[in-house]
Amino acid sequence: MAEQRSGSEAPEAPAAPAAAPEASPAPEAAAATPAAQPTGLQPPEHWLEEHLSEDEADSTLGDNASSTASISSSILQYRTINGRTYHSDRGSNNYWGANDDQQNETLDIQHHVFTLLLGGKLHLAPLPEQVGKVLDLGTGTGLWAIDFGDQHPEADVIGTDLSPVQPAWVPPNVHFEIDDFTQDWTFAEESFDYIHARWLVGSVPDWDALMQQAYKTLKPGGWIEVFEFNGAFDSDDGSVTEKSAHGQWGYIFREGAKALGSKASFSVVKDELHKKAIEAAGFVKIQENHVKIPTSGWPKDPVLKEVGQFTRAALENDTEGTVGFMAVQLGWSKAEVAVYAAHMRKEIRNPAIHAYYAGCTVWAQKPLAG
Ligand SMILES: C[S@@+](CC[C@H](N)C(=O)[O-])C[C@H]1O[C@@H](n2cnc3c(N)ncnc32)[C@H](O)[C@@H]1O
Repeated sequence: MAEQRSGSEAPEAPAAPAAAPEASPAPEAAAATPAAQPTGLQPPEHWLEEHLSEDEADSTLGDNASSTASISSSILQYRTINGRTYHSDRGSNNYWGANDDQQNETLDIQHHVFTLLLGGKLHLAPLPEQVGKVLDLGTGTGLWAIDFGDQHPEADVIGTDLSPVQPAWVPPNVHFEIDDFTQDWTFAEESFDYIHARWLVGSVPDWDALMQQAYKTLKPGGWIEVFEFNGAFDSDDGSVTEKSAHGQWGYIFREGAKALGSKASFSVVKDELHKKAIEAAGFVKIQENHVKIPTSGWPKDPVLKEVGQFTRAALENDTEGTVGFMAVQLGWSKAEVAVYAAHMRKEIRNPAIHAYYAGCTVWAQKPLAG
């Protein structure tokens, strides 16, 4: 059964929310036109030719360098690209985001955004009051796990990630483990009551395999909940054009993934990958909730306006750390990434651009018997 929340509607878009993200002139559709380049991706020089005022350009060229040179454990041997750190080569090495303080701040702001979108809740699955054992896959800075642990002192919460970027001071019922969720899980079968995953877009090469492992690891009657997003921006009024910085964002991630040889999709919501995988794994009582996340405070609806203001803060806080790894896979220089990022920030500040990205939570239960 599909559920739509009122917050999911774009304020100036009368279209049905579930269909609307794909209804606007999506980059995929435009890429198929004869005039477009084979992929629709603009070369990095394109951004040098576009005008930026001195102020707009200056704000992009700060030195984000950080050093982990004195840390020697293999997990902490981060890769450094353009002065930014990325997780170690141990295990899966295709994750697109930096793992330094600047990008971690962006994750923390986004945690607030995602919570606002769920009306202040951390989950939509109808969990029992005493939750039991909880797993948060790809926990990032761990804020979801920490907040969940605070709200459920009786629960035992484990957050896993490739990068050890979680804080040390956490509630006693929360702990973190370094783990690659694309490998065989070592957790005992039927040992968890609730498995949560959020914002793994571009990190999951095989959603079916991931949901099968979750199914195996959940107790009968346990719940899975996956809150996912598209890695591309849309608009319902045509204000995001294919060649704009917003319009190019999706191409950079998609083409960057191709260049890496990664099978991880950036169209999780558009292609309903998490929902289909949850269905295929055998879960029942499947429900979904679609949202649109505006990239600035353009919506009239007060909740979505606030969501947009925080999303803008998250994007402006670290545009390079979010898009830089994938752009580098396409051969872009540090300066080219910085200029593209400046154009992105310029567009985010333009109230005439009504951009958003689509998100969808799917939650479901493992059958009680079997
Ligand atoms: C965009 S962040 C989202 C973090 C968190 N789930 C949230 O919603 O704030 C994605 C996280 O997934 C982690 N990740 C990516 N691939 C992974 C893998 N194969 N195994 C474990 N974690 C992974 C990254 O290190 C990163 O911290």
